[in-house]
Amino acid sequence: MCGIVGKVSTKPCVEFLINGLKRLEYRGYDSAGIAVIQNNEITRIRSLGKVANLEAEVAAFDLEKASVGIAHTRWATHGEPSVENAHPHKSGNIAIVHNGIIENYLELRKELEKEGYNFESTTDTEVAVHFIHHALKTSKSPVEALLKASRTFHGAYAIAMIDSQIADKMYVIRSGSPLVIGVGENENYISSDSLSLGHLTEEFIYLEEGDVAEITLNTITVYNNEGDLVKREIQHENLQVDHADKGDFDHYMLKEIYEQPHVVQTTIERLMPQGSTLAQAVSRQHAAIFSKTKRVQIVACGSSYHVGLVAAEWFEQIAGIATKVDIASEYRYRRQMVDNDTLFLTISQSGETADTLAALRKAQTLGYVATMAVCNVAHSSLVRESDVSFLTAAGAEVSVASTKAFTTQMVTLLQLVLALAMHRGAPELKGVDTELLFADLSEHIELALKTAEQIKNIAGDFKDKNHALFLGRGELFPIAMEGALKLKEISYIHAEAYPAGELKHGPLALVDENMPVITMINHDELLMEKLISNLNEVITRGGKLYAIIDEALAPKFNLPAKKIIVPAIKHEHLAPLTYNIPLQLLSYYVALEKGENIDQPRNLAKSVTVE
Ligand code: G6P
Repeated sequence: MCGIVGKVSTKPCVEFLINGLKRLEYRGYDSAGIAVIQNNEITRIRSLGKVANLEAEVAAFDLEKASVGIAHTRWATHGEPSVENAHPHKSGNIAIVHNGIIENYLELRKELEKEGYNFESTTDTEVAVHFIHHALKTSKSPVEALLKASRTFHGAYAIAMIDSQIADKMYVIRSGSPLVIGVGENENYISSDSLSLGHLTEEFIYLEEGDVAEITLNTITVYNNEGDLVKREIQHENLQVDHADKGDFDHYMLKEIYEQPHVVQTTIERLMPQGSTLAQAVSRQHAAIFSKTKRVQIVACGSSYHVGLVAAEWFEQIAGIATKVDIASEYRYRRQMVDNDTLFLTISQSGETADTLAALRKAQTLGYVATMAVCNVAHSSLVRESDVSFLTAAGAEVSVASTKAFTTQMVTLLQLVLALAMHRGAPELKGVDTELLFADLSEHIELALKTAEQIKNIAGDFKDKNHALFLGRGELFPIAMEGALKLKEISYIHAEAYPAGELKHGPLALVDENMPVITMINHDELLMEKLISNLNEVITRGGKLYAIIDEALAPKFNLPAKKIIVPAIKHEHLAPLTYNIPLQLLSYYVALEKGENIDQPRNLAKSVTVE
């Protein structure tokens, strides 16, 4: 989604702002802008498109004396991408940048128009800046005006404000959207994502819901939404990430795909440090929760939702626990019938997805056993607000299309399912050596990456296609869904996933020589047999078949298909982890053939912090 950075310093701030925006650009890239204070005046520069365009424009200004400033990279919600709609927005002496959505902005806009304010844009942010400007006229301080704003605005927002007449300060307010303060030496920073400040500081203050903060060179003063002075602890974190470096790779997506063997191993060891068992990883708090859990409700969005679907299969097949999975934006508005022996589980890479957070907040009122999060970001809102959490160790994921975060989420969930199954003494687990399952997983993923050569050879077949069909059964069906999502996201080819048995109930009508069909062949003998008869229906209709298959099964699979062979797995439940890899590579190489912007696909954003 959008990104915010800001700085209060004695040194020039423009380079920091531009570099900060580049680090956040993966979150939104429709337009960008900065506003800085110089000689008690605000200079604002905005441009359409990438941060590089803004950087070129900024170069023409002399801003050497500007040491306080805010900046924004936008993913358009209210109003098309344009210079007028780009942030920062100004009103009199003040300028603001804003993430999130102010839902009652139209009503507020009418009132402000009556007060004589003129609007240049169609954004909710311009309404916010005029509202705050108006509130300042009747407030004793900017903090008081921002508190009035927070009591009036509906929706989710993180706002940073500068005032040319208070040239040594910056103000921030947050509710529902993330905002962090980085503590520096004789300077302080703000950002919507702590990762963008990791190269500057290891000290962060995470603001809570409704907080307002006044930031100077050496002070950070925080008030809660009642206006009371509050203390927010400084968190120490080492978040050094080299965003600028893609290494030998042309795209972050490919770099992140190839990081998977390493981050899978790190994720395994996060819960099971070398030499320790899964049983040892279960804390007393987990054990108490596991003892009460008879059902699981999973909620997530996007790729994380697909992980939820895989996990549900595992919960049921391995632990014998009935599991429901819901898309967060649906869950939050649906009446929920909750049994009091149900564990509520969210899955999120960022931990800041607005719908997932809203679902968690609703769940907290519904009498679940506990709320648990599987997340990649330690200090995210989701982790902070859940009763317990399990962290993945994917590291920063920059490419909008999720790859390593997706895979590590599955690893953590498999560990969680196995831990719960062991705790329950699940008979389904009999004979399964849980530690052995993970022993060479990372090598298997490394081997699965070797399918890249086969994938490169078939990517051209997809280049001119408009549609593709992905088939899977059982726990490979969600992997088919993820494969279809990836192809859509970065190659702009319409793709759908079906459980293969459903083929003849509709999608078969679409199959001809122009519809490539990608299928994953299950380990389960019965499912494989059923799948083969489903696939015969495709071949009979002239469909082009691509089969992802484990090398141990390949000799038994004699249909006319292009085979993509993945390493033989130890256990059928590990299949989602390796079969997923060639599908990631397929979407990458098809997008590459088509010359698309792989890391920043059109209309999408990495972290969706609005509803
Ligand atoms: C966006 C991203 C997806 C991600 C989804 C959920 O749509 O582009 O890659 O799966 O949000 O995000 P989360 O951070 O909650 O996993």
